[in-house]
Amino acid sequence: MSEYLYQKTQQYFGQLAGGAEACGEAELKQLGATKISKGYLGYYFYADQRTLYTIVYRTRIFSRILAPLLAFDCHSEKYLYKTAQNIDWSEFLTLTKTFAITSNVADSNIRNSQYAGQILKDAIVDQFRTKTTKRPDVDTRFPDLLLNLYIHENKARISVDLGGGSLHKRGYRTESVEAPMQETLAATILRLSEWNGERPLYDPFCGSGTILCEAFMKAGNIPAAYLRRKFGFLRLPDFDAAVWNQVKTKANHETVEIAEELIKGSDLSADAVKAVRANRNELPEIGTIKVRRADFRDLEGFNNTTIVTNPPYGIRLGNTAEVAHLLKEFGDFLKQKCTGSTAFIYYGDKTLVKKLGLKPEWRHELRAGGLDGVLCKYELY
Ligand SMILES: C[S@@+](CC[C@H](N)C(=O)[O-])C[C@H]1O[C@@H](n2cnc3c(N)ncnc32)[C@H](O)[C@@H]1O
Repeated sequence: MSEYLYQKTQQYFGQLAGGAEACGEAELKQLGATKISKGYLGYYFYADQRTLYTIVYRTRIFSRILAPLLAFDCHSEKYLYKTAQNIDWSEFLTLTKTFAITSNVADSNIRNSQYAGQILKDAIVDQFRTKTTKRPDVDTRFPDLLLNLYIHENKARISVDLGGGSLHKRGYRTESVEAPMQETLAATILRLSEWNGERPLYDPFCGSGTILCEAFMKAGNIPAAYLRRKFGFLRLPDFDAAVWNQVKTKANHETVEIAEELIKGSDLSADAVKAVRANRNELPEIGTIKVRRADFRDLEGFNNTTIVTNPPYGIRLGNTAEVAHLLKEFGDFLKQKCTGSTAFIYYGDKTLVKKLGLKPEWRHELRAGGLDGVLCKYELY
């Protein structure tokens, strides 16, 4: 068995969304990573095998955790092909397993990310064909092995994606409505809100319930990858099933009951309410999310509550003037009916912040899933 880069160094890379850096760094420390250093949209860190599995299983903030196999100078497509064949791919794949490649190329002689991915794919397939006359299939939706190729300034790195796909896909969102936010974004918002499960949490524009489900997972200490069935680290040549079982069993035993009435929400759309219930049912039976159909204007108001929400915004959800009016009314609702509460509002469109008519305590830009939005905190006295 060859020794791969991650085995020599015990260094990995976690990718996250723009604006989530501080949250990601704090989470890595909490989960036991060491020597954490900043890279482009992510962090390098060191971890032993147990810590690594724990990070992949528990992270709420990172979208990918990558284990580098090989790093090399790469000035041409030919060299990429040749070097990729230095890896014995039969250590990662058999003919009955599928694979896929995500690739990202910038400021390099090889210009096209997709084409670079294609070359890596050819190198793998040709190696199998030469040895066996057969080849493993590509499956871009549910691959057994997901590889990541990153080339920046002619320096290439081939890694295994240890989650086997983007970790924002928790697996509870079986039903969705218009403009759902990414689960990792909702988790980042909750972390920035410093909500710790002591005060009630309410989302008055809950949509498919991403914020509510992430709050449920956080309050119940449910591992973020609890519902995930495939993990990329299962394909590593040194995968240790005993360690992984211990990590999983320990984490699953650490879930806690969630107090009644802790997590609640509402939405104007009946379909949204139905979606939240369906999504909640995917999660363990350790508590409830109370959700009902309501226009926020008809709610009684909240005291001593953490309001975390993502109101409609023009780009995805219709007319901007209408949205501006709705936000003004929501601002009045917060001012008049929510004293003693704290609100965290994520605006999918930054220009909408001023429409609320309240002065934020702070604002924090967060980009994810094609959104370039901002989170604002309001203390409601
Ligand atoms: C941006 S979406 C929220 C998406 C949600 N964060 C998710 O991940 O699914 C905004 C939601 O506001 C709801 N909405 C619009 N007007 C409303 C109103 N007057 N009262 C309550 N909800 C409303 C929409 O039905 C929509 O589900």
